[in-house]
Amino acid sequence: MTRTNTLSLFRKSILGAAGYTPGEQPSSPDVIKLNTNENPYPPSPRVTELLRAFDPATLRKYPEPTSRALREAIAARLDLDAGNVLVGNGSDELIKLLINAVCEPGDSIAYPFPTYTYYKSSADLFGVRTIEIPFTEDFRLSAKFAENSSPAKLIFLCRPNSPSGTNVPLYEIEKICASNEAIVIVDEAYVDFSEDSALSLLFVHSNLVILRTFSKGYSLAGIRVGYMLAEKEIIAEMNKLRDSYNVNSLSQMIALAAFEDEPYHSECISKVTKERSRLSSELKKMGFRLFDSQANFILAAHDGVAGGAFYNALKTNEVFIRYFAHIPEYIRITIGTPKQNDALIEGIAEIIAPK
Ligand SMILES: Cc1ncc(COP(=O)(O)O)c(C=O)c1O
Repeated sequence: MTRTNTLSLFRKSILGAAGYTPGEQPSSPDVIKLNTNENPYPPSPRVTELLRAFDPATLRKYPEPTSRALREAIAARLDLDAGNVLVGNGSDELIKLLINAVCEPGDSIAYPFPTYTYYKSSADLFGVRTIEIPFTEDFRLSAKFAENSSPAKLIFLCRPNSPSGTNVPLYEIEKICASNEAIVIVDEAYVDFSEDSALSLLFVHSNLVILRTFSKGYSLAGIRVGYMLAEKEIIAEMNKLRDSYNVNSLSQMIALAAFEDEPYHSECISKVTKERSRLSSELKKMGFRLFDSQANFILAAHDGVAGGAFYNALKTNEVFIRYFAHIPEYIRITIGTPKQNDALIEGIAEIIAPK
């Protein structure tokens, strides 16, 4: 048993924080897992080839410290310089690094609500305050973001937003960047499924930072690789803080192999977006209200059944979806394969109108 005075050595912000609660990761292969927005398709076959040919002897050495080959490939594709790219151990690492690099305890970050809960969980750990500015009912941004009225040093805008899947218009992001001193972080974890991106605004506003990940569009949540795009000066400061070998060598190689297989990537994306349309119309037919999703998930509510009831009933049939206590009428459903989506539709139909 830890002595009480040992725990008192920890920072108060750590002791007082709840910590982030990740979505459930059930181990049974029979589970239909539509709860954490993973891609239902396997990674590129080039990843399989790479792993088959992989020589474990190379693991003896430390990884390339800056993920150079991957940064160069990303920069070339996006018409940037490799100095504008920072690779992280998942984009979650980069979110935490940004807060740690910019905010002193007592400083603030701002974001619309509801959004990705990791921004708040991370801020809490550093004793950083959170300013939550509610979205309108239909997930539009409050005008407050462009008023420069908050003391926030960082503004997080998740686009497409989780859990709604909605995109705020790019002109609003531009307005927010122009009117705020804060660094504006557009979290594009789901951009692969979206019709547009904030990339065109990157050097128009030097306070804009973009975060992306290999976890969703590239089916590589397990290797933990995300990246940040920003002005070189911002990347240079962040580089001082990150762990010198923050991305392991195998993950760097796997991410690069998947990134280079663009035909496979775009084929997976179009399969998912096609299913997004089908599932949306099936849910509407069953009486759900939904938002126009630009991501690989759908946020939906049904007037007759609460979110928690769907969540529990589907779980007993090994179909996992996401339910959030702070928006209890809704469920968030990750788009699966056609077969998985059929099982979900069947499960939901049974809950709404039991036979
Ligand atoms: C909006 C958003 N940003 C970032 C992440 C984290 O991504 P990564 O797996 O790269 O850490 C997630 C993961 O679910 C997410 O939903």
